[in-house]
Amino acid sequence: LRRQRQMCIRDRSMPDVFQMSIDVAIEECGELKKLGIYSIILFGIPQLKDSVGSDALCDHGIIARAIKAIKAAHPDMFIVSDLCFCEYTDHGHCGVMNPKEQSVDNDITLQNSVAQAIVHAKAGVDMIAPSGMMDGIIATLRKGLDEAGYVNLPIMSYSTKFASAYYGPFRDVAESMPSYGDRKSYQMNPANAKEALYESLTDEEEGADILMVKPALAYLDVVKTIKENTHLPLAVYNVSGEYAMLKMAGKMGLVDYDRVLMETMISFKRSGADIIISYHAKEVARLLNQSL
Ligand code: PBG
Ligand code: ZN
Repeated sequence: LRRQRQMCIRDRSMPDVFQMSIDVAIEECGELKKLGIYSIILFGIPQLKDSVGSDALCDHGIIARAIKAIKAAHPDMFIVSDLCFCEYTDHGHCGVMNPKEQSVDNDITLQNSVAQAIVHAKAGVDMIAPSGMMDGIIATLRKGLDEAGYVNLPIMSYSTKFASAYYGPFRDVAESMPSYGDRKSYQMNPANAKEALYESLTDEEEGADILMVKPALAYLDVVKTIKENTHLPLAVYNVSGEYAMLKMAGKMGLVDYDRVLMETMISFKRSGADIIISYHAKEVARLLNQSL
């Protein structure tokens, strides 16, 4: 979401994916509902970025205003908000930086995350989805939301999130490429399967309502293992790099796009995903509606 009325910029790295202003997003929700899609996840791009990500912390920031406006126009749309700071900070990291260590200050970022969660809650969001992978984020958010009176607001945790090159196109589209350093101090090592399970189970203990594996396609073994070890619903995030690769292969005529797309979706279900977050959602809905 962005402030000016427009919808088509930076779609070269993710064809058919657009930044939208709030009025365009409201029209888009009408289109989604026609296809049978009643849930969305929002990412914001503010007018101004600064070192703490202030736009994400005030009631007139882009996401707060979007939640209110979309809810007013579409009360039956289930709105999830991505809760992080990387799109809002000028340095592009997922929280406040600790200048001495050149990495994110976990504890200050936790406190700011509670403030961000309450901004979203006040605006009327249906579920928050913290994506920054800070230590202790789920317990901190649960406590903060409960104390503020939002005991029934669910949390979908990006519980197993790998430090992945598959996020490349998103960082271009969302203008959130870190200006220096990387996210390896807070995202996970792709080689570590035990930690992948441990991180998700810890979030379950801390009070998450839904767990997630991200990226999806290269990590389906992890999806299956977590599914076998939790009672919570499990989401997969079919990320920007996965989307872009398939899209480009389809455009070049290398594969039968629709069939590969559906095989990919089926692989998520087969490995145990209950929820699929995907930039292909509209295409998948169209294909499913055709086959009815
Ligand atoms: C930020 C965030 C990222 C995505 C969603 N929220 C990536 C990142 O760590 O840069 C990636 C989404 C995608 O690649 O589709 N916390
Ligand atoms: Zn982030």
